[in-house]
Amino acid sequence: MRQDIKKVLICEQELASKVKELGERISEDYKGKHLLLVSVLKGSIVFMADLMRAITIPLQVDFMSVSSYGTGVKTSGVVKILKDLDNPVEGLDLIIVEDILDSGMTLGYLREVLAQRGCRSIRIVTLLDKPERRQVDIIPDYCGFVVPDEFVVGYGLDYAEKYRNLPFVGVLKSEVYSTSGL
Ligand code: IMP
Ligand code: MG
Repeated sequence: MRQDIKKVLICEQELASKVKELGERISEDYKGKHLLLVSVLKGSIVFMADLMRAITIPLQVDFMSVSSYGTGVKTSGVVKILKDLDNPVEGLDLIIVEDILDSGMTLGYLREVLAQRGCRSIRIVTLLDKPERRQVDIIPDYCGFVVPDEFVVGYGLDYAEKYRNLPFVGVLKSEVYSTSGL
């Protein structure tokens, strides 16, 4: 697995200290509110697990799974809900937890869908942001790291469902996906 990585972009220590900082900011900003963290499966699970423990105020968690069809490196632009939230969100202050904001299509769609359900507020926290590739007008409220336009894996992020368990964020060697016809 490690031999498929061109370089480590964000190491474990950098991830841990950034997640702690985000947790502190969110704890401060959401004092006295009814915080619900909505994790977008599956890429955000590692970030979510660390972030929720870095937040010191009461919160609820829920999960959604969306698909932009396919397992490749380019998003298709079509978003479909595969698994919806378990509970209603009326009166709650939502933060959507994402692994990476790329074209913005996934989050643009999710934010619109959730906004129609009577929640009190919606914000976005993303571990990684690739602003160069944005197609939908979205700026994350909380962002861990801005990354260059390269395909990254690890700390939850996958390529064809692999590499999610790497403890760091790394750039995948291009020959790994160029040989699979993508
Ligand atoms: P968007 O809808 O184009 O913003 O795509 C967001 C989703 O595409 C993310 O939640 C990831 O699942 C996936 N994605 C985009 N870029 C990368 C990457 O560099 N590595 C792994 N997954 C990515
Ligand atoms: Mg994702």
